[in-house]
Amino acid sequence: MKTNLNFSHPAEVETECLVAVVLDRSEKDRAEKNRTEKDKPQVTVEASDPGVKDAASDVIASGEVTGKMFEFTLLHHPAKLKAKRLTLLGGGKAKSFSAFDLRRLAGVAVRTLKSRGLRSFAMIVPEAGLEVEEAVKVIVEGAFVGNFDSNTYQSDRKDQTIDALTVVARGDQAKVQQAMDEARILGESQNFTRDLVNEPSNHMTPTILAERAHKMATEVGLKCEVYGADKIKELKMGAFWSVAQGSDEPPALIVLRYEPAGAPEKPVLGLVGKGVTFDTGGISIKPADGMEKMKYDMAGGATMIGVMRAIALLRPKVKITAIICATENMPSGKAQKPGDVQIAMSGKSIEIINTDAEGRLVLADGLYYARQLGCTHLIDAATLTGAVVVALGYTNAGIFANDDAMYERFVRALAKAGEKMWRMPLDEEYKEQIRSNIADIVNSGGRYGGAITAAMFLKEFAEDTPWLHLDIAGTAWMEDQKPWIAKGPSGIAVRTLVEFARDFAG
Ligand code: BES
Ligand code: MN
Ligand code: ZN
Repeated sequence: MKTNLNFSHPAEVETECLVAVVLDRSEKDRAEKNRTEKDKPQVTVEASDPGVKDAASDVIASGEVTGKMFEFTLLHHPAKLKAKRLTLLGGGKAKSFSAFDLRRLAGVAVRTLKSRGLRSFAMIVPEAGLEVEEAVKVIVEGAFVGNFDSNTYQSDRKDQTIDALTVVARGDQAKVQQAMDEARILGESQNFTRDLVNEPSNHMTPTILAERAHKMATEVGLKCEVYGADKIKELKMGAFWSVAQGSDEPPALIVLRYEPAGAPEKPVLGLVGKGVTFDTGGISIKPADGMEKMKYDMAGGATMIGVMRAIALLRPKVKITAIICATENMPSGKAQKPGDVQIAMSGKSIEIINTDAEGRLVLADGLYYARQLGCTHLIDAATLTGAVVVALGYTNAGIFANDDAMYERFVRALAKAGEKMWRMPLDEEYKEQIRSNIADIVNSGGRYGGAITAAMFLKEFAEDTPWLHLDIAGTAWMEDQKPWIAKGPSGIAVRTLVEFARDFAG
């Protein structure tokens, strides 16, 4: 999707469709039947241009437009506008209208207009509340989110995409242009991640994931090393290998490095991703029902690859290394079995209770290796547990942290990116659940507090290094479509991690 800025009066913009946000400025929030004349919705069009207000005045006066969130009103041949169509897009109450809402509105505009066969449109930066740069940023991000669809293998697929978005803005042109360029990088990188996650496992083996990472790295100027089974064994990554050994598909240890000239030696941010391209559960095999979803078990790895793409293009002055541990988790004559004991790269011994708790095994060695490569701060992302879905549903990802300061910084990045995650505890008491009789720890803490005991397991390998763990099992895949986003891979955490990295650079 091309993105352009236009600083003319909205009435002068020639476009297939001009989209203006409408808000409800009435104070009270009463149920319709209790409304008196004075708390009827007071709908305002968020454009300074009297031409746009005039064109919308009849339909607003009719009471048909209330401004409620995502309400979509399309007018043809709007009077005195150069645009062919005018869309009034409801953004809810003016009082609570936020950047978060505007991002979603842009997604709704894209999804609604493309489903009607439009290829381009223009959106007016609303007057209400927000800084122009921030408004442009969230409009562009939201438009990219909305433009993605997951039906790539349908032979009768209607190729409905928006090819060009114009944002009608005001203010400092250079600054607004920069906001747009940065948002585009974020939006494209998030969709890059979603493309990787969307592929089924026969089209996204560890080898293919590594090739895609390598190709991207060459395009944006990142160092990329890809290692196979020999190197994994040579590094004594016994936990990672214990998962990989059961599959005929070779594993891949993908290392992406961003080392900009002039960046300080320290800190170094390490990003570790779970890249299980298919999770059958191994010998502790999963039930058939829903197993097809386990093609997205590499979402954490794909997240880190997308983040590195954005970082290479945005060029913050800080060193960042990403490590993606890619493998299948398969049952076979070579697969590990419950009761086996494995020695991780760190030297810790692990009793395998359940071969389906494989994500923490590959990450254990990934986290340890990141520290060996000099990372001073760690973040991992993984579709790690069904238990996090029980705890937080499909709305919030789980965050686990061994460092409050790092967590606080991450929360700021979350707000900038407009993503939702919720902190979970890591008390020492939970460690009892991962004690083993024969080894240092077991790989499954049982049913209760499953997301937490999985994180406690990872903490054993992060040790004292400041570390955040993101459990995205419930949020990496949209179970249903929403007005602003398609069903399928969400690209959760890409934007937040990029914002974090930029803040980390100071
Ligand atoms: N990949 C799964 C977790 C998962 C579940 C991701 C649902 C996405 C949606 C993970 O490898 C797994 O199987 N976890 C087990 C751990 C258990 C055996 C301790 C789980 O959550 O059941
Ligand atoms: Mn599993
Ligand atoms: Zn898994």
